[in-house]
Amino acid sequence: MAALASACVDGAADDDGGVADSGSTGGAADSSGGAPSDSSGGAPGDPTGGGGVALRPNWHEDIAPLVAVHCRSCHEPGGLAFPMESYAQTEGWANAMAVYTGAGEMPPWHAIETDECTPPLPFEHDARLSDEQKQLFQDWADQGAPEGDPALAAPIPTPPSLELADPSATMQMGGSITVDGSDGVLDRFHCVSFDPGNTEDVFVDAMQVIQGNAAILHHVLIFIDEGAESGSWPQGIDEDCGSGPGVGDAQLIGAWVPGSLPIEAPADVGIPLRAGARIVFDVHYHASVTGPESDDATGLALRWGTDAPEWVSLFALVGAPGQGDSTTGEFVIPAGERGHEEVIEWSLPRLGGAEARLWSVGHHMHKVAVDAKTSILRGGEELCLVQTPHWDYGWQRLYEFDVPVDESFALQAGDAVRIRCTFDNSLENPELAGALAEQGLDAPTDVYLGEGTLDEMCLAGIAVAVRQ
Ligand code: HEC
Repeated sequence: MAALASACVDGAADDDGGVADSGSTGGAADSSGGAPSDSSGGAPGDPTGGGGVALRPNWHEDIAPLVAVHCRSCHEPGGLAFPMESYAQTEGWANAMAVYTGAGEMPPWHAIETDECTPPLPFEHDARLSDEQKQLFQDWADQGAPEGDPALAAPIPTPPSLELADPSATMQMGGSITVDGSDGVLDRFHCVSFDPGNTEDVFVDAMQVIQGNAAILHHVLIFIDEGAESGSWPQGIDEDCGSGPGVGDAQLIGAWVPGSLPIEAPADVGIPLRAGARIVFDVHYHASVTGPESDDATGLALRWGTDAPEWVSLFALVGAPGQGDSTTGEFVIPAGERGHEEVIEWSLPRLGGAEARLWSVGHHMHKVAVDAKTSILRGGEELCLVQTPHWDYGWQRLYEFDVPVDESFALQAGDAVRIRCTFDNSLENPELAGALAEQGLDAPTDVYLGEGTLDEMCLAGIAVAVRQ
């Protein structure tokens, strides 16, 4: 990504170097590392940028390649947000694009370094733009979003895909689920069973939840149903199964929320999936108060190999509700309280002394939440793994460390996981204000642990690879 951006800035500098009037500013362009700011500063009020040369940055030479790499995985026709394929589709958004990118709100990325948290390793798919890239959006907007000359258009890289590459099996739910929030009950839990169809034992190394009806799909927990008990559900659906898998012998292997990318394990890491086992989703639908909505298209793509990997991955939900003990007492967030904290600690099981590496971590909370931090407690020290200080309910996900598994975060005997969640139970919290309004409420109420969107949780999901 960085290479692309600097290539395009370099190209701009070269082009500009050929312009007759740039003699005295050419040096400035070089030292600032980018022609765009030079051309905007160099020729104020001259729409041609001097000598009839297209203003920089412009759509064809600068912005189109940038949005292809950093925006269009979501911003495309039929995608998650307004399309950015062409100048015509994008031009009117130039100011908003500058504002959102400048503020770090787009592309969405919430694992952020803070004074109290420096993650030990870089994260994969880190979506953050460089300052130079943000400046390009700003300069483009400031100049009135020039189109530039199509004849000079930069090559457009293929946008990255949110879809899992090379799945071994792709499944879709076998029936339809309808949720209707007009009775005021918005949170519904239904379980969906899938037959992955593997005829021999395999090792899953990647999975992607396929979002059916985006208007109502809130989150999905993914389980292996070892005994294939869920095979008896009519059309593979068990309605109102609660926030569990709906079967006895189930193992949690992953979690999905809107905006999640495929979960891909590092090389040599896999999750055993026996022939004949099924996959169960516990789907949390958030119904609409305006009436019934249906989903018949939610599904799952899995990728697997048949060779036993060197590492087997385990996934655990730590916190409340889940494994661990509160250090802050009863889970209750008083109405009106801002900065309320809940802290939960969980001592890791011994895993028989095997080498264990934590390779992925993420948070799950609801709409009263504003911040979460997960750390490892070791010998009186707190080693922060991740913090999500601008919590956004719409962009929850797992963050994977961007290193080979044997260089990932090593767990030691005696380690404990510590999760600290911070809540703002006041109308100053816009997410909460919106959620209250949706239920016809105009004041906060005491918030307890629970499954509803107006209840709260304080959870971290961690994926740990154990050497075999
Ligand atoms: C991972 C998916 C994703 C990526 C990548 C992404 N966006 Fe977005 N963007 C969204 C979604 C979804 C929305 C709709 C609002 C929301 O849910 O936050 C949005 C909304 C926006 C908006 C506000 C639109 C409005 O209605 O006001 C702007 C502006 C924007 N994005 C710009 C960008 C730019 C510029 C980039 C690349 C530098 C980018 N986005 C990358 C998903 C994405």
